[in-house]
Amino acid sequence: MATTDISHVTVIGSGTMGAQIGMVSALSGYRTAIVDIAQDSLDRASEMLHTRMDRDVDKGRRTADDVRAAFDRLGFSLDRDTVVADTDFVIEAAIEDIEIKRSLFRDLDKVAPAHAILATNSSNIVSSSLADAVGRPDKVCNMHFFNPVLIMECVEVVPNEHTSQETVDTTVELARAFGKQPVLLKKEAPGFIANRLLNALRKEAVELYEDGVADFRDIDVAVKTALRHPMGPFELMDMTGIDVVYLIRMAEYAQTGDPASLPAQSVKDLYEKKQFGRKTGKGWYDYS
Ligand SMILES: NC(=O)c1ccc[n+]([C@@H]2O[C@H](COP(=O)([O-])OP(=O)(O)OC[C@H]3O[C@@H](n4cnc5c(N)ncnc54)[C@H](O)[C@@H]3O)[C@@H](O)[C@H]2O)c1
Repeated sequence: MATTDISHVTVIGSGTMGAQIGMVSALSGYRTAIVDIAQDSLDRASEMLHTRMDRDVDKGRRTADDVRAAFDRLGFSLDRDTVVADTDFVIEAAIEDIEIKRSLFRDLDKVAPAHAILATNSSNIVSSSLADAVGRPDKVCNMHFFNPVLIMECVEVVPNEHTSQETVDTTVELARAFGKQPVLLKKEAPGFIANRLLNALRKEAVELYEDGVADFRDIDVAVKTALRHPMGPFELMDMTGIDVVYLIRMAEYAQTGDPASLPAQSVKDLYEKKQFGRKTGKGWYDYS
């Protein structure tokens, strides 16, 4: 299947990533459905997207006509099976939990048309650990977006050993059709490219903090003013979500069994206190 054959895209999950991926798809001209198991999550996603699009129109970044047309193409649904039965490309962006994703892929495989590609936006769960749950392993890969999806250009496309060249080509082309910059990996690797580099920096930053070398705010300042990163690693964790950072480490630990993959103690503490960063008003920083 080529990108020209794609008319309907389904995004599973309406959280931080799924909502924005769905919007990008609709803005790019695809009939798009965002599916979730929680109505309140769909409502939050819709409200957030309308607010962001209104702001973009006010600032002259998009035209009101383009935004209206995109919302006409975009649907929000709890009825996954009906939506997926008529889709060409699924991007799974549900919670980072391998058992949930495996069960989702099993269900998607049963209802999606035979030609449909099933991609996961997972940051850490490689598609080879999902491919054996479906009868179409050649149509499974990682299509990894970055937060905030509406702005960040990079999309990593990661095939597993069963992924067909056609699936790779279509996914790369779709990323391009979304206005993104696809980066194709030749094989699976933990963290792919960008997060592997980011994890190395984050690990050192948290270690400096836990060792009492510096306050986390000062570490952020050093990264911004000496390395010229737009955000410090602690600010970025708050934006990504401490829960997501924590679950990504746990998912990596589940795959590697290496204690070095486990989340740092200070991240675990924030997670257990449900201080997830910007989304809860408090993480490393206080947003109240
Ligand atoms: N947050 C990031 O910066 C980021 C970046 C790249 C990739 N990712 C990946 O994207 C995925 C989603 O992350 P997020 O930050 O958007 O998470 P999130 O917690 O904001 O949203 C997850 C959503 O999935 C929904 N959900 C849970 N189980 C579901 C199911 N069975 N069917 C449908 N929906 C279900 C939840 O209700 C929730 O709305 C994860 O795999 C994560 O690794 C996240």
